Amino acid sequence: MALTRSMMRRAAVAWQKGAGNRIPTTRVVNTAMNDNCPILISPSLVSLDLPEIWPTNSTTHDFPLTCKCSDEQTAAIIDGKSIADEIMLRISCEVRRMKESIGKVPGLAVILVGQRRDSQTYVRNKIKACEEAGIKSLITELPDNCEDDEVLNALSRFNKEPSVHGILVQLPLPQHLNVGKILDLLSLEKDVDGFHPLNMGNLAMRGREPLFIPCTPKGCIELLIRSGLEIMGKKAVVIGRSNIVGLPTSLLLQRHHATVSIVHAFTRNPEQITCEADIVVAAAGVPNLVRGNWLKPGAVVIDVGTNPIEDPGCEHGYRLTGDVCYEEAVRVASAITPVPGGVGPMTIAMLLSNTLDSAKRAYDFP
Ligand SMILES: NC(=O)c1ccc[n+]([C@@H]2O[C@H](COP(=O)([O-])OP(=O)(O)OC[C@H]3O[C@@H](n4cnc5c(N)ncnc54)[C@H](OP(=O)(O)O)[C@@H]3O)[C@@H](O)[C@H]2O)c1
Repeated sequence: MALTRSMMRRAAVAWQKGAGNRIPTTRVVNTAMNDNCPILISPSLVSLDLPEIWPTNSTTHDFPLTCKCSDEQTAAIIDGKSIADEIMLRISCEVRRMKESIGKVPGLAVILVGQRRDSQTYVRNKIKACEEAGIKSLITELPDNCEDDEVLNALSRFNKEPSVHGILVQLPLPQHLNVGKILDLLSLEKDVDGFHPLNMGNLAMRGREPLFIPCTPKGCIELLIRSGLEIMGKKAVVIGRSNIVGLPTSLLLQRHHATVSIVHAFTRNPEQITCEADIVVAAAGVPNLVRGNWLKPGAVVIDVGTNPIEDPGCEHGYRLTGDVCYEEAVRVASAITPVPGGVGPMTIAMLLSNTLDSAKRAYDFP
């Protein structure tokens, strides 16, 4: 606990001394990363239930950092890619230490159903990241028209396989499959995506710690903390309420003592609610939904949206864009994540971190 607080303080100091508009992630991460530090600096959730030992840190940012709209960029860029790279490096070192000490490595199994191009890309990236970190990966691919039983059988096999410490069912599944039934069968101890109802329930309830926190929300919080940006007491708006991103992000922000509002497809005047927020997390899947005039000057913007937009000029015929109109937001916000290179790389890093934690738990490896 004391370690985490002091790391936060150092991260904030590094940020305050930072040059230009880019949050000095390398310095932030490097100061936090010595051999005795944990890989992630987010505190455990139960430790947050005792706010008297988690006082507002005077050296973290009490944003808004800027108080007026500008013709120029006011926002520091939260460089998720370089933060994720640092975390991945630490994970690889831990995997190597585990292999050298006990001759075991963490294992991640992936179940991919159907031919969705985005899902195939996500899975390919996750497998590649495992290879780079020395984590064993297994994949079961099933056809679009497969039945519940085929997915459940694959899941049961991975549940029983001792060399598998994390199982991920790539969502969304085809409509005809029973997602609830499938996720219910997933072993709680291997639910590295954190989508099992018990993990999600423990995320929601004070005094409880889920075995795993969903990767994208966990990555968003880690980005905020590493950037020295205060969460406690802030007004946060989460745009989107999906089980994968919006809902767990709102729960997690609440556990960190933010006052959270949720905007969804039926919300009236979403811009009015959003412009009161100190922290905006956009996860609607609607390109450029959040305009500059939706933001309070000095707000911190975490853009989860990853939307492919046709662009014949790009290598694959499309480019990725976020849910936030970046060009406008950088003139209003005090800090913002880019798309790509913000939340996306953090999601993969959190998945590998959860898998490593699971393997350590299974082997009782310190
Ligand atoms: N960077 C990453 O690692 C990562 C990871 C996961 C997802 N993503 C991206 O994040 C985005 C959201 O993903 P998801 O899986 O959460 O999507 P989803 O399941 O489609 O959920 C979208 C949510 O946004 C809400 N919404 C839709 N249109 C809206 C609007 N015009 N105004 C306000 N709210 C609106 C929906 O409200 P209702 O509930 O009322 O329908 C829903 O709750 C996508 O772009 C996805 O690609 C990125």
